[in-house]
Amino acid sequence: MSEPDGPLVLGIETSCDETGVGIVRGRTLLADAVASSVDEHARFGGVVPEVASRAHLEAMVPTVERACETAGVRLHDVDAIAVTSGPGLAGALLVGVAAAKALALALGKPIYGVNHLAAHVAVDQLEHGPLPEPCLAMLVSGGHSSLLRVTDVTTGVQPMGSTIDDAAGEAFDKVARLLGLPFPGGPHIDRVAREGSSVYVDFPRGLTSRRDLERHRFDFSFSGLKTAVARWVEARERSGEPVPVADVAASFQEAVCDVLVRKALDAARSEGIEDLLIGGGVAANSRLRAMAEERAAGLGIRVRVPRPGLCTDNGAMVAALGAEMVARGRTASSLDLPADSSMPVTEVLAG
Ligand code: KG4
Ligand code: ZN
Repeated sequence: MSEPDGPLVLGIETSCDETGVGIVRGRTLLADAVASSVDEHARFGGVVPEVASRAHLEAMVPTVERACETAGVRLHDVDAIAVTSGPGLAGALLVGVAAAKALALALGKPIYGVNHLAAHVAVDQLEHGPLPEPCLAMLVSGGHSSLLRVTDVTTGVQPMGSTIDDAAGEAFDKVARLLGLPFPGGPHIDRVAREGSSVYVDFPRGLTSRRDLERHRFDFSFSGLKTAVARWVEARERSGEPVPVADVAASFQEAVCDVLVRKALDAARSEGIEDLLIGGGVAANSRLRAMAEERAAGLGIRVRVPRPGLCTDNGAMVAALGAEMVARGRTASSLDLPADSSMPVTEVLAG
């Protein structure tokens, strides 16, 4: 280890449309360079894998250079390279994994191929210090919605539930599109909802009936909610009346947040866990944060949410998990580690 304050790790993230390169020393963030191709996908209303892969390829070297410059370190100084091995878009992951292997090989440093979901959890350490173990993590983004029981972020991540159809962020994006708001829709719904009434429409709360809870207590479903919003908007349009966008956005957002918070707190209580961590792009949602804090306080549960820039995909989260791997003496991945688009959440480190 080059420093007493912890290992210096460079992390690369390319699982979706963000090319992220982060540098951390131990639990201290030194640089978090992100190049996003989101604008290139906007007109398609969703991420186009081919476009994302090409953008990663073009952004990789400049983003690594920018991160090193910001951190004031040279590549030769790093103790290890970490990279998202999966899950994510196969072609996009490949670019990051190939870049990380090239760096590890050229610099003669160990490589850690880490799980994207565990990295969303580990990143909180950069802001709020060591993670309480165990903790309950709720990850909500455009690609995933899961409840995880985390006993050790480098080895012990157990899934308790996940979405059975759309991810929470996907629901935000699809409903935003229905309401004529730009992609990605989450931040726009968050913004317009502030002017609307959250009780204007009583939209369905997926998988919360007694019968559903028997089989899917900690699972989510958002596709029925999305369809309900679509039907409601269509009916309004047919009647010739204007669609009250702010009210529909606020009512939809309330339904999503209500289910997310309810299930997360139920999961924490069922495990006797007192710390809830929320991560992923949707964790940037202002209503979700407020509701989680309010309801958790009543149950004596603490809530940790990284700042919005660390919630969305970035390289710092990968570096944070890599540094934790090094600090806890985990064996590095082999140089032929895969880009595994369906990497299971229980596999925190690729072999
Ligand atoms: O974690 P992330 O950057 O990428 C994925 O792994 O998907 O999450 C992006 C998702 C998008 O669906 C976006 O609409 C949503 O996070 N999002 C939000 C907010 N900011 C981003 N959803 C609700 N409210 C927000 N403020
Ligand atoms: Zn993510």
